[in-house]
Amino acid sequence: MATDTLRWNGDYNGQVEMIDQTLLPTQYKTISIGDIEAMWEAIKVLRVRGAPAIGIAAAYGVILGIQKSVDSCSLDDVKQKVVQSCDYLATSRPTAVNLFWALDRIKTKAITGNAATSQQLAEELLKEANAIRDEDAQMCRAIGQNGKHLIPDGGGVLTHCNAGGLATADYGTALAVMFAAHEDGKKFRVFADETRPLLQGSRLTAWELQKAGIDVTVNCDNMAGWMMSQKMIDLVIVGADRIAANGDAANKIGTYSVAVLANYHNIPFYVAAPYSTFDMTLPEGSGIPIEQRDKSEIIEFSPGRRTAPHDVKVYNPAFDVTPAKLITGIITEKGLFKPEQIAQNNI
Ligand code: MRU
Repeated sequence: MATDTLRWNGDYNGQVEMIDQTLLPTQYKTISIGDIEAMWEAIKVLRVRGAPAIGIAAAYGVILGIQKSVDSCSLDDVKQKVVQSCDYLATSRPTAVNLFWALDRIKTKAITGNAATSQQLAEELLKEANAIRDEDAQMCRAIGQNGKHLIPDGGGVLTHCNAGGLATADYGTALAVMFAAHEDGKKFRVFADETRPLLQGSRLTAWELQKAGIDVTVNCDNMAGWMMSQKMIDLVIVGADRIAANGDAANKIGTYSVAVLANYHNIPFYVAAPYSTFDMTLPEGSGIPIEQRDKSEIIEFSPGRRTAPHDVKVYNPAFDVTPAKLITGIITEKGLFKPEQIAQNNI
């Protein structure tokens, strides 16, 4: 069930190959990303998206940023180029902390590593970027195992956005729990909020689950409350882009509304995320930067087809923050925790 979302091909002079997620589900196409500017653009326009995946993409982006300097520049100059590349890629998207976590990890390796030449440095950094990818794949598997018991046989699960293989190096966070339960032979139904405005739920989550043979139904975001009242939903599982030390969790816009609805209907609401999504420097979610995106995403349902008056004002935050008090549990690679246990357990 793993998705080959992105990978590095070749030595440090190589390229990244990734699925262009903007084209799914009508077109499955992999593209080659051969320079840092193309990687920045791919992250910005969501060709690669989902918190863990953009962390991996950014780590590979640094290799793309230094590769032309390796044979012609001194070790110190290439280290300088690493820092510049990290600073540049950090401007692509602000909310998912995995991006900054991965860039910090690459930068720290460059500064503290043992490389004696520019070539050795490039090799070490590529190894580190590949390690970030491989560790993410293992974390997905562990999250799946740690959460699969939560899904009742015959139950209904609601999810929002896409926290699946396309958002990670393997088979996701929220969707990992579903894939693992499915592998155990459980029968259940998944409802995928379509996730306006960019439709990650209907375009990506439904595509992944259907491909895996899991019973999936797409619904518009504004149907979730009614579906809960009709007893169609037994639990909600979503991913996260950044979790503060108190357990407040940022995820795709609309997640907060789902959590409020789940609370009203006494339905458990779970967040699934690896440690690279935790930001222990932030005591609470109010400090999480929320990305504001272009108005065209809202007023042009598909490019060129306007669905709102010309020049209308638009508010388009890409994420919201669900307060810890609305979260039943956080499923991590280390186990299932209550939000208030996150800081105590130093996740
Ligand atoms: O804007 P996106 O598509 O990058 O938003 C993605 C999400 O909100 C996901 O739910 C989150 O990154 C978790 S992915 C495991």
